[in-house]
Amino acid sequence: MKISIAKKTPESCKTEALIVGCHEDTVTSLEGAARRLDKKGGGLLSRIIDIGDFTGKLNKTALVYTEGKLPSKRILMLGLGPKKEITREKIRVAFAGAARTLRESRIRSFSLSLDFGNDTLHLDESTSAAVEGMLLGLYRFETFKTARTDPPDVSSITLIADDPSSAEMARKSLHEARIICDAVTLTRDLVTTPANEMTPSKLADTARQAGRSKTLSVNIIDATAMKRIGMNALLGVACGSAQPPKLIVLNYQGGASKSAPVVLVGKGVTFDSGGLDLKPTSGMETMKDDMAGGAVVLSVLKAAAALKLPLNLVGLVPSVENMPGDRAYRPGDVLRSLSGQTIEVVNTDAEGRLILADALTYARRFKPALLIDIATLTGACIVALGDHLTGMLGNDDSIKDLLKNASETTGEALWELPLWEEYDDLIKSDVADMKNAGARSGGAITAALFLKKFVGETPWVHLDIAGPSFLAKDKGYIPKGASGVGVRLLLEFLKQRSQDANGSHS
Ligand code: BES
Ligand code: MN
Ligand code: ZN
Repeated sequence: MKISIAKKTPESCKTEALIVGCHEDTVTSLEGAARRLDKKGGGLLSRIIDIGDFTGKLNKTALVYTEGKLPSKRILMLGLGPKKEITREKIRVAFAGAARTLRESRIRSFSLSLDFGNDTLHLDESTSAAVEGMLLGLYRFETFKTARTDPPDVSSITLIADDPSSAEMARKSLHEARIICDAVTLTRDLVTTPANEMTPSKLADTARQAGRSKTLSVNIIDATAMKRIGMNALLGVACGSAQPPKLIVLNYQGGASKSAPVVLVGKGVTFDSGGLDLKPTSGMETMKDDMAGGAVVLSVLKAAAALKLPLNLVGLVPSVENMPGDRAYRPGDVLRSLSGQTIEVVNTDAEGRLILADALTYARRFKPALLIDIATLTGACIVALGDHLTGMLGNDDSIKDLLKNASETTGEALWELPLWEEYDDLIKSDVADMKNAGARSGGAITAALFLKKFVGETPWVHLDIAGPSFLAKDKGYIPKGASGVGVRLLLEFLKQRSQDANGSHS
């Protein structure tokens, strides 16, 4: 989809449809682009308002045919609610809805005015929110559809800015928003691609492709190298599958050569059958999604390089398929992890923490300034927080605060759970240093306590995205299915952190 900026006035814009945002409290007086269009169009918009068909209520729309009174064939009035209550998240949702309404009418090319009379948000904030909402809301995955989809995809969107300085600012916002949305789209595509196509090797190939950009270097550690260095927790999980495991290592150097990197680790289980502790039918159906954390890390590294963020970043994606079979690891097996600690496997379905254990140990080789892992780790996190919240646990309050800030900006809600040390008793083993699962209750916490044993003193935060990574229903600008949750959150976190770090050095 093409998306561009045009420096012109809304009333001179020749287009199939022009989206014009209107606030509820100023709807009768009309402001910004709406006012100018109304004047030029001889009261086209105010007539709709007068008869009560449009009030500016959030997410409500009215489609107005201009009958030759304006160069644009249609105006889509878009309600943005009360001016003071506007947020970026509301703009994302509203513009996603507007864009989808136009697509439903089979309109393939449309424009929107960036001047929706707003002083609560900066133009760069409202521009990127509108662009994100439209690009993410129009997302569809059609790789495996052989028939042409109806309504067809939108092919071009034009953002109208009428003075040079706002056009310039919009250009910058659009450039960034585009890179960020491409990263979300990549994650959604990788997650949606079924497990018969998206194997660990295929995920590694995708990473290699991203590595062609020169600013990102990619290294794949295969099973032979894993055996040599002793990644036996990861190898244990991989045993049951015909698909060889891969550890994807991505490296982006955007900061000073000596500055310690941020290391991101993402769970890359391309299919989680549960292993010998086989999942029931209902629990297995969406388990192609179990590499969502890994897809996030890959996409974030790619976008960070494209955005030229001023920091050093390492991405690690341990990738395996968890399958039963005559070679599969068994309940009761003891695995000697890369860290040297031994793990009794009491449940082969608690595989994520095993592969993360070795990846987190490996991460320490990079002497990270901080470590964040992101994983579809536990059903227990969904029980605790529901389908829409990311669970956050970790040993470092300042990282958690920064992540909370970032989450408010991006609308990817998260909630902290306690890393409650007393529950460590639940994962004590009779035969090894620990076991890989505790009781049913408190499962998101015991999983994080397990991971903690592999990070040492490194400042670390764990994000459990089991709930929000895959949605059963459409939600605002997230069509049902793979959401790409975590991509915008981590990019915003990295952006804010590099701003803070560079600010404090000068
Ligand atoms: N991949 C699952 C967690 C999951 C569940 C993600 C539902 C998305 C939706 C993970 O590997 C798993 O199976 N966890 C088990 C752990 C248990 C055996 C200790 C769980 O949560 O049931
Ligand atoms: Mn599992
Ligand atoms: Zn899993």
